[in-house]
Amino acid sequence: MRRVYFDNNATTPVLPEVFEVMRPYFAEHFGNASSIHHHGQETRAAVERSREAVADLLGCRASEVVFTSGGTEADNVAIFGLTRPGDHVITSTIEHHAVLNSCKRLQEMGCEVTFVPVDGRGLVDPDDVRRALRPDTRLITIMMANNETGVLQPVEEIGKIAAEADVYYHTDAVQAAGKVPVGTKRIGCDLLSISGHKLHAPQGVGALYVRKGTILQPLFYGGSHERSRRAGTENVAGIIGLGKAAEIAKQGLDSGGLAQMAEMRDRIQKTILSEVEASGVNGEGAPRVPNTTNIYFDYIEGEALVIALDLKGLAVSTGAACSSGAIEPSHVLTAMGLPPERARASIRFSLGKQNTPEEVDFALSLIPQTVARLRELSPVYNKTAVSH
Ligand SMILES: Cc1ncc(COP(=O)(O)O)c(C=O)c1O
Repeated sequence: MRRVYFDNNATTPVLPEVFEVMRPYFAEHFGNASSIHHHGQETRAAVERSREAVADLLGCRASEVVFTSGGTEADNVAIFGLTRPGDHVITSTIEHHAVLNSCKRLQEMGCEVTFVPVDGRGLVDPDDVRRALRPDTRLITIMMANNETGVLQPVEEIGKIAAEADVYYHTDAVQAAGKVPVGTKRIGCDLLSISGHKLHAPQGVGALYVRKGTILQPLFYGGSHERSRRAGTENVAGIIGLGKAAEIAKQGLDSGGLAQMAEMRDRIQKTILSEVEASGVNGEGAPRVPNTTNIYFDYIEGEALVIALDLKGLAVSTGAACSSGAIEPSHVLTAMGLPPERARASIRFSLGKQNTPEEVDFALSLIPQTVARLRELSPVYNKTAVSH
């Protein structure tokens, strides 16, 4: 059966050229990067080359890159590494659970957290961030691109506000890296998280940019790996993969290679909106990463559409992968003001480097008829009530 994968915000396939450079690090190049003999030095050199490649993607120094086990760890190191009970932290209502639940834990530990809202397009207003500042504010953590809608937040303005107030700024750029330029200096952040598996490197590896001079309390205690910022023997093969994926992502951004992806995304949106009544784009009108669109199909259950499309070979999602199966509507879409039934009727399409225009044709040949079929079965769908 033919299978098309449009769920690249959940995870991306490892690119063949990424896998090729990783392969020797499972076998011949097995050394521990901390060993001083040949095997260790060989591995150390490769890890440091990867660090250079990641730094190049993030526009920072190699010494400012700390490898982690992924985006979740990077977010946790940033948030718990900087805050103490009694601190005040500012975040947004649409963060990934890696940030949202870390902030909830901070509250339990005696921090105060302000969750700034978003508007109907899913955008944080920088003035809300400014207004939330207090003398005891220690950290602002607001994401760069939302995983469900792809909406890009005004990170540079927030960076300026943080700098003026002399408050640390962390941004979760897990869904932005490789899709839009992520210049840490331009953003003006002190900390920035990325994850390998969202940019065609393997799952279980990520990185945190830590601006020179930023002192973080580590999460793990052990050896002095990663300049004592993250103890534990490195995931060498994963790090090598992340380095290669970062290099490919940088080339793609520099050569304008994402234009085709944006075209495919736009064609998905345009065709669905013209062929399916009572549908629309969540986050329309806001700047977005080029690979993501989140579309509502009123009068259906998103989960039912995901399952129906999967049976026909198309993999899409109702939003955050970790919340699928949950009955609760998306916290991101409800924060944007969508009524719960529209939030539950929303589907995320997210493209990757491996997707082709022909796969878009395949998807578009399935979606309108599948939605129509589900609506026929829907007791709340009254065709005459739908205005187009
Ligand atoms: C915005 C965002 N932050 C953090 C994460 C967590 O990254 P990881 O899966 O590498 O732990 C994800 C993954 O979905 C994400 O989309």
